[in-house]
Amino acid sequence: MADHGKRTILVTSALPYANGSLHLGHLLEQVQTDIWVRFQKSRGHDCLYVCADDAHGTAIMLTAEKQGITPEEQIARVKAEHEADSAGFLIGFDNYYSTHSEENRHWSEEIYRRLKANGHIASRDIVQAFDPERELFLADRFIKGSCPVCKTPDQYGDNCEACGATYTPAELIDPVSAISGARPVQKESTHFFFTLPALADMLVEWIGSGTLQPQIANKLREWTDAGLHEWDISRDAPYFGFEIPGEPGKYFYVWLDAPIGYIASFQHYSRQHGLDFDRYWQAGSDVELYHFIGKDIINFHGLFWPAMLHSAGLRTPTAIYAHGFLTVNGTKMSKSRGTFIKAGTYLRHLDPEYLRYYFAAKLSGAVDDIDLNLEDFVQRVNSDVVGKIVNIASRCAGFLKKRFDNTTSAELPRPDLLQDFIDEGDVIAGFYEQREFGRAIRAIVALADRANQYIDEQKPWVLAKEAGREAEVHAICSQGVNLFRVLMVYLKPVLPAMAEKAEGFLNDRLDWDALQRGALLEHTLAPFQPLMTRVDPASIDAMLAESAEETRA
Ligand code: MSP
Ligand code: ZN
Repeated sequence: MADHGKRTILVTSALPYANGSLHLGHLLEQVQTDIWVRFQKSRGHDCLYVCADDAHGTAIMLTAEKQGITPEEQIARVKAEHEADSAGFLIGFDNYYSTHSEENRHWSEEIYRRLKANGHIASRDIVQAFDPERELFLADRFIKGSCPVCKTPDQYGDNCEACGATYTPAELIDPVSAISGARPVQKESTHFFFTLPALADMLVEWIGSGTLQPQIANKLREWTDAGLHEWDISRDAPYFGFEIPGEPGKYFYVWLDAPIGYIASFQHYSRQHGLDFDRYWQAGSDVELYHFIGKDIINFHGLFWPAMLHSAGLRTPTAIYAHGFLTVNGTKMSKSRGTFIKAGTYLRHLDPEYLRYYFAAKLSGAVDDIDLNLEDFVQRVNSDVVGKIVNIASRCAGFLKKRFDNTTSAELPRPDLLQDFIDEGDVIAGFYEQREFGRAIRAIVALADRANQYIDEQKPWVLAKEAGREAEVHAICSQGVNLFRVLMVYLKPVLPAMAEKAEGFLNDRLDWDALQRGALLEHTLAPFQPLMTRVDPASIDAMLAESAEETRA
């Protein structure tokens, strides 16, 4: 996609639950989003990235209780941990907030009032399982019992881990509340519903608008074709969340206020930075809005969310970008194998940029699952980044420093080769824009191969020993450094810390417009610092051992 003029873009990734630590699956999403945002910023666009913790719900309430703290304390602790983990992976949020905020309360109430005024809120009584001891309604996953099919005890209320059967909690043999152990009773209460079917036409049009990934559009069409259902947006007290205006004891279901958290996080930022809030959120806004999410939450973002926004008279997303799930060594992350790897555990053993690079190399614009194969990870990072890309600079830097006062030559021997590298920029930018990061990486590594091949052919280390060939050595190494510079412009969205070190070495800023500024000629460099060290396979083993240890604890 060619860029004509400056775009204004707002980007989000899904709000992690304030109920536990981030793991590498969460980081797959944040890294994907962050690369895309950094790319847009490098291109000179006005792009903001906001996120938050998803702080409400029964699970968070119960976790806090188990630890003997208030839900507010629980969500503050987790938020601090999430922010530290994301920062550790160089995720450049412009704002990280919480759904338990005044802005979010305001917008949840406001959107609810607008939906209600439009006749899009219904209410009726429903019967649900209720824990008579704890006096709370039980969602399916809080009911346990023996599987009605294979009789395995201690199975959750919706499916059996032993035989894979799915059923309703009412079918469980000897059901008990997972919270108190009491036998659940059936109890009636009034619930509020968002009348999604009333927005079916709007949704069909939105799904067909052409901005969604084909896999997502197809999935959403299956749902609209099958017929939409009213969506239960209320939960009874006790519940950690926002009380519904005018309905004492009734709370917004966590998934009602969670996406509104995108608006709230942006509003918090916009107040601090004097941005025009309405320009971003009013119907017909010229600002591009993208939500990066996992494939498990497409219904919330592709149906409920646009329908709510539309009914509330707000803008709808420009697109939803869904990714697949992360597996480790070919299988679902597993606690017993030590492959359920928390973000913090990874960071204690390995450089975050290894994983950013590896994820980038595997990501595409499709909704496919992505495997972190740990052997491939070591091999790819060591051979591509250290062996090919860093190698270009380190081969040339020594000569320039020792013999040429760390200053590049006045001319390059192969300006055509440099121009080839620069000309690839449009293709690589197109890949980034389409989230085809793997293709971008392959194009960059192919260029690195050409740069290394050039240096191999010119053999500056041989010429350096011959008399009278100083000027050639100088020019070859200056050529190499200039080729490296272009590659670092392309890699900066993926490897921001390494790019910063390269910027220090090159005395230059490596945003996309560096390509237009021409070669670094008669330009003084700073001393070369090692940009990245090789992955030590022993660190991987140590990380897996620590992960296994944590899950035993
Ligand atoms: N709180 C909701 C999102 C609300 S957005 C308004 C939620 N939280 S989550 O913590 O369970 O997941 C956050 C994001 O991480 C989701 O997009 C989810 O798909 C993603 N992932 C969680 N596990 C994942 C993998 N194993 N692999 C890739 N992404 C995964 O859902
Ligand atoms: Zn079973």
